[in-house]
Amino acid sequence: MAEYETFEHDVLVVGAGGAGLRAAIGAAATGAKVGVVTKSLLGKAHTVMAEGGVAAALGNADDRDNWRVHFADTMRGGQYLNNWRMAEIHAKEAPARVNELEAWGAVFDRTPEGKISQRNFGGHRYPRLAHVGDRTGLEMIRTLQDHAVHQGIDVHAEVSIVALLKDGNRVAGAFAYDRERGRFRVFKAKAVVLATGGVGRAYSITSNSWEYTADGQSLAYNAGAVLQDMEFVQFHPTGMVWPPSVKGLLVTEGVRGEGGVLRNSEGRRFMFDDIPENYRNQTADNEDEGWRYTQGDKTARRPPELLTRDHVARCINREVKAGRGSPHGGVFLDIAWIKDKIPNGAEAIKRKLPSMYHQFKQLADIDITKVPMEIGPTTHYMMGGITVDGDSQMTNVPGLFAAGECAAGLHGANRLGGNSLSDLLVFGKRAGEHAAEFAKANGAAAIDAAAVDSAAREALSPFDRAGGESPYHVQHELQSMMQKLVGIVRTESEMKDAMAQLVGLSERAAKVGAEGNREYNPGWHTAIDLKNLMTISEAIMRAALERTESRGGHFRDDYPDKDPQQATFNIRLRKAADGSMSLSKETIPPIPAHLQEVIEEQKS
Ligand code: FUM
Repeated sequence: MAEYETFEHDVLVVGAGGAGLRAAIGAAATGAKVGVVTKSLLGKAHTVMAEGGVAAALGNADDRDNWRVHFADTMRGGQYLNNWRMAEIHAKEAPARVNELEAWGAVFDRTPEGKISQRNFGGHRYPRLAHVGDRTGLEMIRTLQDHAVHQGIDVHAEVSIVALLKDGNRVAGAFAYDRERGRFRVFKAKAVVLATGGVGRAYSITSNSWEYTADGQSLAYNAGAVLQDMEFVQFHPTGMVWPPSVKGLLVTEGVRGEGGVLRNSEGRRFMFDDIPENYRNQTADNEDEGWRYTQGDKTARRPPELLTRDHVARCINREVKAGRGSPHGGVFLDIAWIKDKIPNGAEAIKRKLPSMYHQFKQLADIDITKVPMEIGPTTHYMMGGITVDGDSQMTNVPGLFAAGECAAGLHGANRLGGNSLSDLLVFGKRAGEHAAEFAKANGAAAIDAAAVDSAAREALSPFDRAGGESPYHVQHELQSMMQKLVGIVRTESEMKDAMAQLVGLSERAAKVGAEGNREYNPGWHTAIDLKNLMTISEAIMRAALERTESRGGHFRDDYPDKDPQQATFNIRLRKAADGSMSLSKETIPPIPAHLQEVIEEQKS
């Protein structure tokens, strides 16, 4: 093996968003020697794009809330494809994780009685999102980071992992390069936690920044781990559509949680056109606020703008396609209307949604307290990911763990807003602790020198092809193709077309070239990232073609209904011995009686 700078850790955490930081804290608390690798800078994570709040049944806004309601909401939102054990753990442990964060210094908004304030979000029965204005993810990252750096954790910033290293079956570490100088690094680790976030950069319109190229999912897949539920991509209903430079930037669901309504070009609240049966007005709960929930003879139990994200995104798509959209290809989101209904209206909007106010003022020259915003769906989150054990978060590869967005299970077919932040706290902690336990029980593993040399050769190969096609061209075409053919509404013929195009794009991706030297060379980095994007796009397409029904984030125009037969399995993907992607349908284990009881009880 060539000489590379080598680092040794008991637990190596890949990713420094909320899940990675919480995993690092969890592992360090056991006394393990922990290293965190982050592709970009500490504090720059998609966690900050979960703006509106963290979901936890604290019961501060409504004392009827408890883990049972949160569990049932999460399962219903996920259309029962969820890993029910994870949904149970999540609902039970989220309140403790939020309180712990507060004890570590997170400054949540308060109720008049001094409790943590909680707001409404789609699919949650009660106001459940503990928030810090519309900067909740940011405050969480700030708090976790502050806490983590005091635990003696080594941080390797601007370092990208190109391969996981194994000793026989088990994980032994990772091989990486630093972005600044382009030098390779070997990380020896007894256990590795992947917490690399999502896959948004496989699409052209996304709330994800440049880092989110499916690295963890692809690294795990290539190391023998299983992926599941890859057909379920979440398109958040509200991203900016104008100006073009910020298209896709998130507009928090908190706007709708605070009373924002959606209107088409005719000024009509089109969400009333498609209210599911179980959402129609059935209770007296809302009578005092009827002005929010009625339009003509149509009524909804809660504002129809707070239906689940998949539903709202499709309704917006329908309006735009029908020619009832806004000038720049979205629809209107109006919070300004509420200022006449509440004391100090404009100031209250600015206080509750400070980032949204500044975002629109500075980027689009729009005052949201006066005029509606223009918004449209944006690729936001991946429900699918690496298959893990619900309790420990370990994958099928011994010593390899995954947590947060890159892991699958908790959210099933669709994630409820705010559940990502509680997910990363609950399962980040568990992953870190279990990884440390694994490291202690199993000791050091050996590094395979040949695997390191081969990973180095592959990483450098774009320089051998200087003068080859630019990786940016291929990435751009991939993103446009995924957006157009494997987006919010899917059909077999379009996805088969996409599959055929992917073959050509993969051949081109294998031949892209990098110019110049290894120091801060984004073209080279993109060439490496492309491999991950190709793998994950194939996984999304294969799973989406296989699921011949519409459920949660996966909507098939050729199969627009739910098929109860398909509620019984998750689609899983693994790398076959010949290098091809193999697919199987795995039956979901029967839900235990005590949890089924909770679901039934909450249906009433
Ligand atoms: O709309 C939002 O604030 C996003 C929250 C989330 O994705 O959980």
